[in-house]
Amino acid sequence: MDKNVGIIGYGSMGKMLLNKFSQAKIVESQALFVANRTVSKIEEANDRYTICKNNIELAKNSDIIFICLRPIDIKPVLEEIAPYLRKDCLLVSLNGSVSFANLEKITKCKFAKVIPSVTAEINQSQTLISYNDLITEEDKNLLNELLSTIGNVIELPENELGMGSELVSCMPGFIASMFDVVCQSAKKHTSIPDDQIEEMVLDTMCATGQLMLENNMSFEDVVSRVATKGGITEVGSQVIYEGFPKTADEMFEKTLEKRRQTADAATKSFNEKD
Ligand SMILES: NC(=O)c1ccc[n+]([C@@H]2O[C@H](COP(=O)([O-])OP(=O)(O)OC[C@H]3O[C@@H](n4cnc5c(N)ncnc54)[C@H](OP(=O)(O)O)[C@@H]3O)[C@@H](O)[C@H]2O)c1
Repeated sequence: MDKNVGIIGYGSMGKMLLNKFSQAKIVESQALFVANRTVSKIEEANDRYTICKNNIELAKNSDIIFICLRPIDIKPVLEEIAPYLRKDCLLVSLNGSVSFANLEKITKCKFAKVIPSVTAEINQSQTLISYNDLITEEDKNLLNELLSTIGNVIELPENELGMGSELVSCMPGFIASMFDVVCQSAKKHTSIPDDQIEEMVLDTMCATGQLMLENNMSFEDVVSRVATKGGITEVGSQVIYEGFPKTADEMFEKTLEKRRQTADAATKSFNEKD
């Protein structure tokens, strides 16, 4: 890639992106810049990227900047770098709660929002992306090229990023919680060792997903294939279809409400005078 890429914030997300971009050799170390509030943290692998002494130095050198900061830190950092941004610079926020409208209050430039999933660690993220109206097709292609190093890229309108995040970014946590509950229950009814129960469920869960993908099966297809009429799976499956919808509805109502509150708090912080 012939663009300079900067990453502000060397926390969980910033570190992950730096590692993936440099492992995939998609950005050379002299074109991959990083800045962090605590500079000493970024000195660990300086042969793979270029350390900036501050955010301004990074802004002056970068064509695409990934802002890997908590919402509270985004406004001051944007204000700090805005006067030093390169012409045509593309800013990518990793935070879903801060709206384009709020980001544009600080500087009217090309913005994207990107939401990766923890499965990026094994290059299987379903990464969500949304753009403001200044983004060009060329920008989209560049971001796709970069983000395909961590998995698939899914474009959504900004107003669907919330539910989209529940479905891909929060979902590993939801899936783990659901199957944890299933395993806890199974443990009460068997003498099979706990770790063996978890391994059996996990392997079956992964194989079921693989089976669905390879054979183009829907969830319903799997249920009707396994839950034969009058059989044992049908009994268990019916219990889930009767009891679980209430839990799933409550889960989404609560997570979406929490998302609204977080977005309101972010807007409030952007409206506050310094
Ligand atoms: N973690 C996830 O799974 C995930 C998934 C999707 C989206 N996100 C979003 O991604 C964003 C980053 O999350 P994270 O988990 O990576 O956060 P994090 O681990 O807390 O990292 C934040 C980093 O920002 C640095 N920082 C703070 N203020 C700064 C400043 N003024 N200048 C330069 N660097 C500064 C911090 O530096 P210090 O070392 O000095 O503390 C820290 O390294 C958040 O908005 C989050 O909502 C996270």
